[in-house]
Formats: sequence, C-alpha cells, structure tokens
Amino acid sequence: MLSYRHAFHAGNFADVLKHSVLTLTLDYMTRKEKGFSYIDSHAGAGMYQLNDDYAQKTGEYKNGIEKLINANDLPEELINYIELIKAINKKETGSEQLTLYPGSPGIAKQILRRQDNAHLFDLHPTDFALLTEFTQRWKKSFVKQSDGYQGVLAMVPPPSRRAVVLIDPPYELKEDYPKAVKTIIKAYQKFATGTYILWYPVVTRTLVDKMARDFTNNSVKNVLQVEFCLTPDSDEYGMTGSGLFIVNPPWQLASQLEKILPYLKNKLGSQQTTFILEQLINE
Ligand SMILES: C[S@@+](CC[C@H](N)C(=O)[O-])C[C@H]1O[C@@H](n2cnc3c(N)ncnc32)[C@H](O)[C@@H]1O
Repeated sequence: MLSYRHAFHAGNFADVLKHSVLTLTLDYMTRKEKGFSYIDSHAGAGMYQLNDDYAQKTGEYKNGIEKLINANDLPEELINYIELIKAINKKETGSEQLTLYPGSPGIAKQILRRQDNAHLFDLHPTDFALLTEFTQRWKKSFVKQSDGYQGVLAMVPPPSRRAVVLIDPPYELKEDYPKAVKTIIKAYQKFATGTYILWYPVVTRTLVDKMARDFTNNSVKNVLQVEFCLTPDSDEYGMTGSGLFIVNPPWQLASQLEKILPYLKNKLGSQQTTFILEQLINE
C-alpha cells in the first residue's frame, strides 16, 4: 500500500509552488522573536539527490527547479526560496550547482531558529530512515514513524500557540482528499490561530471541488486557495496541476503570489497554463 516515494517528483513544478509558499510562510513566522512549531504530517525524506535513479527516471525537476535556479529575472518573492536551495547545495557539495533538492523538512531546517521546533511524521520505512538520518544533528526536531493526520491533532495547540502545519499527503488513496480537510477542520477547532497549508494535486476536478466545499461548509475562516495548472483538466490519468489551501496565511502572501504565479507560468508553462488565486473564505 505504501508505494509513494517523493524522490521521483522532488523539485517538480508542484514542489516549486508548495515550497515557495512554505518558505514565505516560515520566513514570515521568524519576524517575531517568539519561537514557533513547524508540524509536517507527511514529511518525506527531507533531502533528495537529483542525480539519483529516482529523479533521473522521471526528470520532473527539469520542468521545475532547474528552470529557476539560475534565472536572473526572479521576482523578489522567490529569491529566498532559490537562495536557500543554492546555500544547501553549496554547503553539501561546495558548489551552487543543482544536485540536491530540499523536501519540506529541508526547507524548514534552513529557516527555523533555536527557539523554534519541528515535528515531522512519515510512515514509509525507507523515507523515515532517511528523514531520521537527515535530522540527526537538528536538535529541535522530533521525528516519528506514525500517522501524520493523528500526529497533527496530537500536536495542536503547541505551548507557544504559534505554529505552521503542512499537510502534504501522497493521495494514493482517494480518502486522503476528505481526510486531509477533516484533519484541518478538527485541528482548527482546537487551535484556530495556527497556519495550515494543505497541498493537493489536480487529477480529478470533482475531488478538489469537494475539498473546497468541505472547507466552506465548516466554521474555518480565512482560507486562501492558490492553484497552478500546466494544462487543462483532463480525464486521462495524471496530474495536470496542483494547488494549496492555506488557512490563516501571512497577510502579504496573496500579493506575493500575485507576482509569483505569472512568473511561473512564463518560466514553466505554456499558453495552456492557468492559475487561480482566491480568498475562498473571508476572515
Ligand atoms: C508528498 S510526500 C511528502 C513530501 C514532503 N512533504 C515535501 O514537501 O518534501 C508524502 C509522504 O507521505 C508519507 N505518508 C503516506 N501516508 C502517510 C501517513 N498516513 N502519515 C504520515 N506519512 C505518510 C509517504 O511515505 C511520503 O513520504
């Protein structure tokens, strides 16, 4: 059942959107001195080698991070994300050349400070072992090989009452769609001021519409939806786009995304590419 490996997809166009939003959100949290928790329900391995067999087999990063890493026309809003990836490569390999791509824990590790902590969950034995190794010298990180949905509910509210929660399931099972939203709704009932980021793939439009309805039919407030689709919705198998629901986004995130989305369309997309940015539920 557990066959999904993010190593095949690391650095693709969907990671670019997800991880640039994560970088902007975590950067925003560090503007206050007070520490916060980063909770990652589906953390993956933490770091990926783009020259290994997984990434090379699909080559997905080539229409993602590879097209941005050396761009000299980056909008200001993407600079920290790209610089962070260059810094990781430089530190590990001595060169800014793109050979490593950080997963969500890899991004958090670069941004979190001594007063912040990270709680990372993954079920896959191989990815969990890699994640454990990746976080070995990261003092304020706590990794668990257990269900991330339950993990989120057990962790909120954190003692600091400041947190960013990332929910990024593999969606191998259709039940992940409603389960991810339900987890956020339950977590919100316990901790309404947390920031929740939920990633979703656009494979079947009705499943995404149902997620949006599940949010609007509940008492969750202040939900921003962003979506970037390389090609139009299709009945064929495969992901045509991806998006994020962000509950309690940083206040400038929507205007930052207004700059990022047309840039990504220009760099990664075609005339068929579309994006949406919508305040799905008001404050
Ligand atoms: C999309 S990947 C995560 C990628 C990562 N968040 C990133 O941005 O780099 C999904 C991960 O969820 C893990 N997984 C699947 N079901 C899970 C569950 N119920 N709880 C925790 N992890 C799970 C998989 O092993 C896989 O590593």
